Amino acid sequence: MLGPDAQACPFSTPETVSREDPTMTADSHKLPALPFSDDALDPHISARTLGFHYGKHHNAYVTNLNKLVADTDLAGMGLEDVIRKVAGDGSKKGVFNNAAQVWNHTFYWNSMRPNGGGAPSGRMADLIGNSFGSYDAFKDQFGKAAAGQFGSGWAWLVSEGDRLAIETTGNADLPLAHGKKALITCDVWEHAYYLDYQNRRPDYVATFLDKLVNWEFAEANLG
Ligand SMILES: [Fe+2]
Repeated sequence: MLGPDAQACPFSTPETVSREDPTMTADSHKLPALPFSDDALDPHISARTLGFHYGKHHNAYVTNLNKLVADTDLAGMGLEDVIRKVAGDGSKKGVFNNAAQVWNHTFYWNSMRPNGGGAPSGRMADLIGNSFGSYDAFKDQFGKAAAGQFGSGWAWLVSEGDRLAIETTGNADLPLAHGKKALITCDVWEHAYYLDYQNRRPDYVATFLDKLVNWEFAEANLG
């Protein structure tokens, strides 16, 4: 069950893919279906990258999380509740990392769409203009933040009151763990782009902004 401030991301979509193992129970965490086909983002993100990223990495986080919470007081708890419960608890770091990565990846898939990208319109355009001065200024700041995140992590557009802000987090960390509302995210772990872009992370991030970002999802997350 999602919390009262749950975001628009379909974390509890009833349609899940059949990658379940026989040990799963009705309240196990599930791997949500991708919101598009494996080749829908090609050539910007290849079907090969999506196949590994979603089918192997994202799926593994779900499997690991279910193993870690089985027979504990976290079993049966919703994903966002688990994240909030264990955030900052050093003894539950494994649970946090896997739960956060399940959430982050579901959010990332929904942050993109085929034929996305470019400057937004409507409410998001106004907010970006008010917060950053212009779309080009936002794009420059987001690109630099994402490219400059040292090692594995995530770049985020977050909502802070009536303004927007750009943040980066390391490894599995996410705005939800800090009481902040995410609007979109870009995965800057190497597994997100290495097959298609090798070490050219700035090119991957520029493509994310120019061709993929889903502004409708961002606006829906404003609430
Ligand atoms: Fe990833």
